[in-house]
Amino acid sequence: MPDSYFSLQLAFALRHAVQAQVPFEVAVARCTNLRRRLNLGGPSCVSRWGEFLAEMRRLQSDPSALLATCVAFHDARPPAVPARSFGCFAYEPPNAAGVLRMHFMPPAGASSSPLAAVNMAARRAELGEMFSHVLRNEKGVRSVLGVSWLYNLDAYKRLFPSAYVASVKKPWFPLHLNGSSTWGQVLDWRGQVKPEMRAALLSRLHLMDAEAPWIVFPLQAMAATCGVQAFHELLS
Ligand SMILES: CC(C)(COP(=O)(O)OP(=O)(O)OC[C@H]1O[C@@H](n2cnc3c(N)ncnc32)[C@H](O)[C@@H]1OP(=O)(O)O)[C@@H](O)C(=O)NCCC(=O)NCCS
Repeated sequence: MPDSYFSLQLAFALRHAVQAQVPFEVAVARCTNLRRRLNLGGPSCVSRWGEFLAEMRRLQSDPSALLATCVAFHDARPPAVPARSFGCFAYEPPNAAGVLRMHFMPPAGASSSPLAAVNMAARRAELGEMFSHVLRNEKGVRSVLGVSWLYNLDAYKRLFPSAYVASVKKPWFPLHLNGSSTWGQVLDWRGQVKPEMRAALLSRLHLMDAEAPWIVFPLQAMAATCGVQAFHELLS
């Protein structure tokens, strides 16, 4: 199942290595979300991640061996279970400034798109559950921040308070490609790579900017933020 997602990311990293003149394994670490997808995040997995990158370096001229290595590492560990998740949503505890990061990652096994209008009430219910949990358990939350390609979609934005939606803008901080905030757009709701997105991305790889490789994606990640009170008011 993840093969086509892995192979697209490897193709992207190969291009970045050329464009930025960095070793292939550096490009893999910088431009893919394989560390998370292979569940090799965190201090206890540093050496296993190092082994994986060494394999990427060794096999870089053999695309099928690279892909087979990704699949083998993937199959060797159970998938990561996001902490603090509520259906499709999850959050990271507030930082020192009271900013809570929100994420959207539909669990496997859905029978329809999680963003379909018919599922809007279920998404709102998950958000309601998450923000009442936040109210009870997280101290000092002042605002909510999301960074994602999803803020290009009305089907996503309609889930949130109007002040949050009105705030959507180009991020004022550097992006990265190690998660799903940009990469997520190539997947459909079944978790499969969308053929038209794959084709669109591959056709634009030659335009890659070494400093801002995400520019070649059809949709750019956007940021949204507002006070947490707007979420409590909408969802209570
Ligand atoms: C979000 C996700 C479920 C969308 O999957 P999908 O198969 O495109 O779902 P749908 O086809 O039902 O699309 C949902 C809506 O988004 C719109 N949409 C999806 N991709 C789009 C695109 N590239 N451009 C414009 N609209 C798009 C659809 O038109 C639809 O809107 P509508 O109901 O108003 O017609 C899927 O991409 C996903 O699970 N991605 C991984 C999670 C992720 O990206 N998380 C971000 C982490 S911050």
